Amino acid sequence: MAKKPFLTDIKTLRERARKHIEQGAVTEGYSADRDTVVKVLNEALATEIVCSGIHAESVAAEFLQHANDEQGHADQIAQRIVQLGGAPNFSPEGLLTRSHAEYVEGETLTEMIKEDLVAERIAIDSYRDIIQYLGNDDPTTRRMMETILAVEEEHADDLVSLLDELGK
Ligand SMILES: [Fe+2]
Ligand SMILES: [Fe+2]
Repeated sequence: MAKKPFLTDIKTLRERARKHIEQGAVTEGYSADRDTVVKVLNEALATEIVCSGIHAESVAAEFLQHANDEQGHADQIAQRIVQLGGAPNFSPEGLLTRSHAEYVEGETLTEMIKEDLVAERIAIDSYRDIIQYLGNDDPTTRRMMETILAVEEEHADDLVSLLDELGK
């Protein structure tokens, strides 16, 4: 059986690293479509901002932790956008169009929690899509999104438990 060769020889690696040093973390070996990755990450950023707002609206104290988590996710995503040479979009204008999750106000506590849960479930599906899209082309962004996805799944699980406790 032939051994699998290492992908790039050392000489090529060294030469490539010297080119375009102003691009920092984005090297020639970066094989994802950077514009699309930045666009998708800006949508994820908008999703985090909207989710954070929904948490804050609902059951203040209990979901402060969730709101803080979303804030942390928004920061992580924004940082990665900058690393990729893009500009994080925090503008409230068009936020709800960029966000995958929608903002629906619930009248009662139960309705608020349900809307919160729906937003988490939208985030879960869209982040899974992003992870699959990234594949092996941008492992750093993929790993970040995988970590965030796991937290959104915990959020959804917490919300279901809360609905159970409320007997809904
Ligand atoms: Fe989040
Ligand atoms: Fe969440």
